[in-house]
Amino acid sequence: MKNLNDLIEEAKSELKNARDAGALKMTEIRWLGRKGKLTDVLRNIKDLPEKERRAAGGAANRAKQEITNAIRDRQGELRNSSRASDLRRNRIDVTLPGRKKAAGHVHPLTKALLEIRAIFERLGFSTVDGPEIETEWYNFDALNIPADHPARDMWDTFWLKPALPKNERLLLRTHTSPVQVRYIEKHAPPYRIIVPGTVYRYEATDASHDAEFHQVEGLMVEPVSPAGGRGISVANFKHVIRHFFSEYFGGRDLRVSLRPSFFPFTEPSFEVMISCIQCKQRGCAVCKRTGWLEVAGAGMVHPNVFKNAGLNPKGLAGFAFGFGVERLAMMKYKIPDIRLFHSADPRFLRQF
Ligand code: DAH
Repeated sequence: MKNLNDLIEEAKSELKNARDAGALKMTEIRWLGRKGKLTDVLRNIKDLPEKERRAAGGAANRAKQEITNAIRDRQGELRNSSRASDLRRNRIDVTLPGRKKAAGHVHPLTKALLEIRAIFERLGFSTVDGPEIETEWYNFDALNIPADHPARDMWDTFWLKPALPKNERLLLRTHTSPVQVRYIEKHAPPYRIIVPGTVYRYEATDASHDAEFHQVEGLMVEPVSPAGGRGISVANFKHVIRHFFSEYFGGRDLRVSLRPSFFPFTEPSFEVMISCIQCKQRGCAVCKRTGWLEVAGAGMVHPNVFKNAGLNPKGLAGFAFGFGVERLAMMKYKIPDIRLFHSADPRFLRQF
């Protein structure tokens, strides 16, 4: 009995020194394994005299139970402490702000276009498009710009090589205005449309000119009486265009001024000026101290345009306008160089 107690103490102190699951397993084998110290004791019991055997057997079994329990306890201790150190090592600071996923976003030009569309669509305009490769007829002649007219020099043109059967020349459209004619040919007024699209100019590029840029064309036409409507007037145009620019630039007090101008496809023609969005007309570098910014060309649709689209101009009235999308976005976001739009420079793009 005395011996057994010593063995138990010995086993317990070995267990205390087992620092991990592996060492613990070795200790267990050393004591309870097939050749373990306690197994040995148990095996020898059968050789004792019969009257001692029962008492010794009971004591040895209790010793085995006690060591087994001690092993299990030590196992629990080790598991707890390794969990605690795991937690300490992999501590999570739940108060840290999350990491933002870098998601893509629309290009600033697309963003401008979507905004422009949304404003006009709220006014009942629908959005249509037309071809970027255009015929000379739609880009020029139908818009009342004859070949020998000096007004044609207003647009530097990329001409395309292959000629059409009727000897008609193809070009990259220099403006979105040809879509006016295409639309008038196929639709009965009243209607109001905008035409966003890419246009091309055979020009040297600089900070404010690019050979490829974007315009939005506008067209609103109504029949004059007796068809019911009163037709469209300059007053209608001024309202629409002021509403548009106020919404786009977010100015309640934005002023619009129409200056006399010339375009072959409108009569009368205007240059649309808005009060400087930068200085509110106090005078700054953006408006060159004039207080005004030129933002669009416009006018009342010329009778020849209706005629060239196959309609009798008598019963019709409408306004048309066109502006550059890059130019508007440059004003709104203070972008200093038009070429940034297709630079694909992430330092530029990230800002939108
Ligand atoms: N197409 C003209 C340009 O590119 C802009 C323009 C002016 C469009 C007057 C119009 C308009 O519809 O009425 O310079």
